[in-house]
Amino acid sequence: MSPQVRRRSALGAAAALTGALSGGILLAFHAPAVAVILGVLLSLALGAALAFLVLAQRAQGRLNALLRAEAQAQAADRERSAAERAALSQQLARVTGMLDQGAVSRADLRKMEQRLVRSAGDDEAQVEAYLQLLHLAQPVRALPRARGWAASPDLLLTLVDTVLSRKPRLVVDIGSGLSTVWEGLALRGLGSGRVVALEHDESFAAETTALIERHEVSAHASVRVAALKPMLVDGREMLWYDTAALDDLHDIDLLVVDGPPGDTGEMARLPALPALWDRLAADAVIILDDANRDDEIAIVERWLATYPQLSARRLPHEKGAAVLTRTQPATGPST
Ligand SMILES: C[S@@+](CC[C@H](N)C(=O)[O-])C[C@H]1O[C@@H](n2cnc3c(N)ncnc32)[C@H](O)[C@@H]1O
Repeated sequence: MSPQVRRRSALGAAAALTGALSGGILLAFHAPAVAVILGVLLSLALGAALAFLVLAQRAQGRLNALLRAEAQAQAADRERSAAERAALSQQLARVTGMLDQGAVSRADLRKMEQRLVRSAGDDEAQVEAYLQLLHLAQPVRALPRARGWAASPDLLLTLVDTVLSRKPRLVVDIGSGLSTVWEGLALRGLGSGRVVALEHDESFAAETTALIERHEVSAHASVRVAALKPMLVDGREMLWYDTAALDDLHDIDLLVVDGPPGDTGEMARLPALPALWDRLAADAVIILDDANRDDEIAIVERWLATYPQLSARRLPHEKGAAVLTRTQPATGPST
């Protein structure tokens, strides 16, 4: 309540009180009973007015506090926006300065812009792929995030789609993880087939096994720990999974190559085909992840040169993927 309203209310109440008192004195002499009733009514009215005044005062206090807090918040917002504007204009000034000195060319800026636009597009593509994955393979529990060390949704979608369309009896997944679980989910959807993943690291093997159990796909997916051991490939000693772990595996319909990690050696995934060639089904499909990397580009070239009956198709996935299939009847390597 504003001070003017308070002043006017007080004056009004004093005038009413004076009028009521003089009327009351007159009435008390001529009609005492009416004077008593009027006195009681007047006291009640005065009490109610007093209570109203107190409540109104309190409400005003609360309103004032709220208005003060709002004003403080707005001031803080204004300060933050001003600081952000200042930081932005500083950055702009830096970029403009670099442009003036020729440290950044307009072509560089255009490339940066294109990279940003492309990465936003990649994100969209991954979300689209993930939505399709959920629909096709229907997990009922939460899964860890894809991308990074794990396969990206675009590759997972290729794997799930390949499993659903080719209905493989045996999938071998080199480098265990999310890929193993999604392949297991797709196989469970089909009601048959199994995926065996190879993993050199016991703790990652345990993580993948826990995921397989959590998603109730143990009937279709398993992980085998196989230490990395020296292997001769084209006369060169390389590290690859202990092939004893694969002894019972034949007629592999789908081979997914996403391990060992690149830091275990140059062209670390090259041995996959020499090690497993004789264990592949005649119409096997081989899918290699990270096919945009120099090592993997060289690996595909070597595989195509060594096994001329293979042909390769590149998929425009964010990390790149190569799909290799046989175009001629299965024979041994050309070398
Ligand atoms: C590219 S990852 C395999 C990913 C798997 N195919 C998937 O989709 O999740 C290759 C190997 O890297 C190792 N690895 C997995 N996650 C890792 C991490 N967060 N840090 C370091 N190595 C990791 C594991 O040994 C794995 O077999």
